[in-house]
Amino acid sequence: MRKFALSIAFIVLSLFLVNTAFAATKCPQPRKTKSAPSSTFKSDKTKRANVKKGKAIYQKTAKPMACQMCHGKKGGGDGKLGKALKPAPRNFKCAKTMKKVSAGQMFWIIKHGSKGTGMVAHKKTLKDKDIWNVIKYIRKDFMK
Ligand code: HEC
Repeated sequence: MRKFALSIAFIVLSLFLVNTAFAATKCPQPRKTKSAPSSTFKSDKTKRANVKKGKAIYQKTAKPMACQMCHGKKGGGDGKLGKALKPAPRNFKCAKTMKKVSAGQMFWIIKHGSKGTGMVAHKKTLKDKDIWNVIKYIRKDFMK
């Protein structure tokens, strides 16, 4: 009987672990984010952007908080705060979802935020140039 109880506990625990693991990296990710105006959607100024500066913003200096707090240190959408959010932060590692998200689209949402979600606007805290820097970092390190 005790063995039985133990194996039930084990099964419940492993289901829980599997579930949280998948929750963190759901892919494809449901996405209802508003689209940028088409000229912005098609724009891309990452060519001359600086990956190193982008990394610092993403991992540390962005305000009100670093992007990784929600999007995860490795871009999986599984940051400390991100796990509690609905809709979940974008999982940049998920190619199926990210293939629809151009650099210009990222620019628009980082600048203006995604209304009704945890994704806040950064137009007061990041210069356009720095937004392109962080986009280059995300695309180069997480979306390959
Ligand atoms: C408080 C949590 C939080 C922080 C901090 C945060 N994000 Fe987000 N982000 C989200 C959520 C939630 C979404 C999903 C929004 C949606 O579903 O429309 C999102 C979506 C995005 C998207 C996807 C846009 C699209 O069209 O799909 C990009 C790009 C992005 N964030 C970049 C960033 C960058 C860069 C930073 C740091 C400067 C940042 N985020 C900081 C929560 C956060």
